[in-house]
Amino acid sequence: MLKRTAWCLALVLLCAGNTFAQLPSIIEKDGRHALLVDGKPYLILGGQAHNSSGWPAMLPQVWQAAETMHLNTVEIPIYWEQIEALPGKFDFSLVDTLLTQARAHNVHLVLLWFATWKNGSNHYMPEWMKKDAAKYPNITGLNNKHIDSPSPHSKATLEADIKAFTAVMTYLKQVDTQHTILMVQVENESGSWDSMRDYSPTAQKLFEENVPQALLKPEVLKALSIPAGTKGTWQQVFGDRADEYFQAWSISSYIGQVAAAGKAVYPLPLYVNAALRDPLTNPHSNTYESGGPTDNVIPIWKVAAPAIDLLAPDIYLSGSERVLKVLELYDRPDNTLFVPEAGLVADNAKYMYEVIARGGIGFSPFGIDDNGHGSTPEELNKRLAPYAQEYAVLAPMMRELAQWAFEGKIKAVVEREDHAEQTIDLGAWQATIAFGSGRENTTKADVPPDGKVMIVQLSENKFMAIGTGCRITFHPTGENKDRAWQYLKVEEGSYDNGVFKPLRILNGDETDFGGPRFGNTPKVLQIEVIVR
Ligand code: DGJ
Repeated sequence: MLKRTAWCLALVLLCAGNTFAQLPSIIEKDGRHALLVDGKPYLILGGQAHNSSGWPAMLPQVWQAAETMHLNTVEIPIYWEQIEALPGKFDFSLVDTLLTQARAHNVHLVLLWFATWKNGSNHYMPEWMKKDAAKYPNITGLNNKHIDSPSPHSKATLEADIKAFTAVMTYLKQVDTQHTILMVQVENESGSWDSMRDYSPTAQKLFEENVPQALLKPEVLKALSIPAGTKGTWQQVFGDRADEYFQAWSISSYIGQVAAAGKAVYPLPLYVNAALRDPLTNPHSNTYESGGPTDNVIPIWKVAAPAIDLLAPDIYLSGSERVLKVLELYDRPDNTLFVPEAGLVADNAKYMYEVIARGGIGFSPFGIDDNGHGSTPEELNKRLAPYAQEYAVLAPMMRELAQWAFEGKIKAVVEREDHAEQTIDLGAWQATIAFGSGRENTTKADVPPDGKVMIVQLSENKFMAIGTGCRITFHPTGENKDRAWQYLKVEEGSYDNGVFKPLRILNGDETDFGGPRFGNTPKVLQIEVIVR
């Protein structure tokens, strides 16, 4: 009897253990994605530290910013030059410090592996590699021009990165059984500035060979706008895009091998980030970082680097048309949308709503910590405020948002530069969103275009709306199109651990003049409408 009880207890503990120790993973259903953390959809309300802030002396500033922002996930670099300062001798003390302190501050981590590429350069390679340029070369530009970007054709560099990244992932598996670390970014904004590709003799020989079969599959050629059946050399198949596509293939194959080696020992979600090109004009590749995961070469990266779970856009472009286009291009059935970096400016916060509505798994402004500038707490608070006020509202409902986003129940609109009214179709209802003059106490001319709203469809007639800087109103559609309607109840409230807690019922002046308004700080409204 005792034996059976002990056996049952062991089984229960084992099951509980499995539940709590589930590896973060990305799942896909009907073209939508979710990041599962502890087995449930999770939304990264993130913040990325500055490049040189992953050192113990700088971490207090990072945690202070994290707390001020109410974020749930800190993105922070780990440095090859520090981890393997001597060849083959690995030092994971910074990883230990990050884990201990992140847990003490109750946040998750996304680690950024600054290694072969950091913004297209080799600057985070260990000194012993930088000192041996013959063994770990940079690419060669046209006319033998020196280019500050590592060669993806160097076997020695690839082997060294594979060895180091595998050691990192092996260590993470060993020390992070509670899964503080959700994902790892492999390299940072890979690609090359100042040269579309490597023109070294080794690279040139490969460039003159035939395009690999894997890229000639009809679906891949179609995605690259090349007629099916085309074959031959890079130049013959890809014409004036040959240099860039060759560079993309070379870099993605390299990073794909680094990622696959790391994933084989510890299968955490892995991603790469992109320094974007203008998504509206199909610019020439000598105007942006060539070979990185820009929108036009996503199909190449998908073929060459299957161990990379997602390609992620870093949002430093401006203009709503441009940014919304980027989000559309990276939100694909075969690519989970995630914004690991966005300029820390107030205007960018609105795009987080679009990311959530598209079923994206997270958003993170870049450079949250003070970076040793000695700002006052007031200055820091002011800088972080646009995100702090969003996260304060979204964090207590993060799990619900992530689940709704995965189920496709959220729709969003963001204010355009012309403040034009927009609509959201919600089945039996259509919502009209007025910006500009919809703001409390302002007129159309004097507001920045930073309004936004996301509407969650709770049932046919019931919605949750979260937003700022706009006014919403509803109209019945379909057979009820011409019928009278009214608000049954509009409740303003907030979430507390996943439960909506109403603060008051909005009525009278707060709903009578064209529908409920959202001011400068985010509000959560539960709205029920009826036809009469
Ligand atoms: C994008 C890079 O990915 C970041 O590491 C950082 O260098 C920013 N640009 C610049 O602020």
